[in-house]
Amino acid sequence: MIIKQSEFICSAVTPKQYPEEERFEVAFVGRSNVGKSSLINTVTNRRKLVKVSGTPGKTRLINFFLINNEYNFVDLPGYGYAKVSKSEQLKWGKMIEDYLVNRPQLRKVILLVDSRHKPTADDVMMNDWIKHYGKEVIVVATKIDKLKRNEINKNLKLISETLKLDKETKIYQFSSLKKQGVEQLLEEIFKDYDLVE
Ligand code: GTP
Ligand code: MG
Repeated sequence: MIIKQSEFICSAVTPKQYPEEERFEVAFVGRSNVGKSSLINTVTNRRKLVKVSGTPGKTRLINFFLINNEYNFVDLPGYGYAKVSKSEQLKWGKMIEDYLVNRPQLRKVILLVDSRHKPTADDVMMNDWIKHYGKEVIVVATKIDKLKRNEINKNLKLISETLKLDKETKIYQFSSLKKQGVEQLLEEIFKDYDLVE
């Protein structure tokens, strides 16, 4: 699976602003600064398709991207960034929730967690919540380049236990910096695409 084409469609806050087409949709969720926008740039092989920043809270809207003229990727604002005001966090939370609940074309949710840390209570809640709404979750451990080899398995185990994943559920290792894990992740996202419609 190779992404040959990618383009920005639109930004949205409310469901009325979402694109109308009934394309298969894949959304990326996770804590602020975990690397969602970077991952989208990496898998699409575009350096600036999505804005990335060292300052958490970069993505403030829901951004839709057309991929291979066939399906959409959706970049969501990150949650859990303490320096964003409470009211702003509530607004973003509502934006994310509205999207996840009101989007029948949403088929897969990619939950990004930082490979260096134990998933937060927000991460656990998000994982439970997506499953509650019957969506498939794929867990990705980001910034894997920051770990030493001997730390990787230990950290993946901690992530798996904290999110209460089944033993068989794979966690995808990913690094935007090293462009690591791209093929495996794309294969997992699109493996049953032909069976969807
Ligand atoms: P919000 O938009 O705030 O929700 O953040 P985000 O999840 O979209 O994160 P973003 O992609 O903007 O990346 C945040 C920071 O992490 C940036 O400084 C990136 O350069 C850095 N970063 C992202 N991915 C990686 C990675 O794989 N390795 C390393 N070392 N740094 C990364
Ligand atoms: Mg972002």
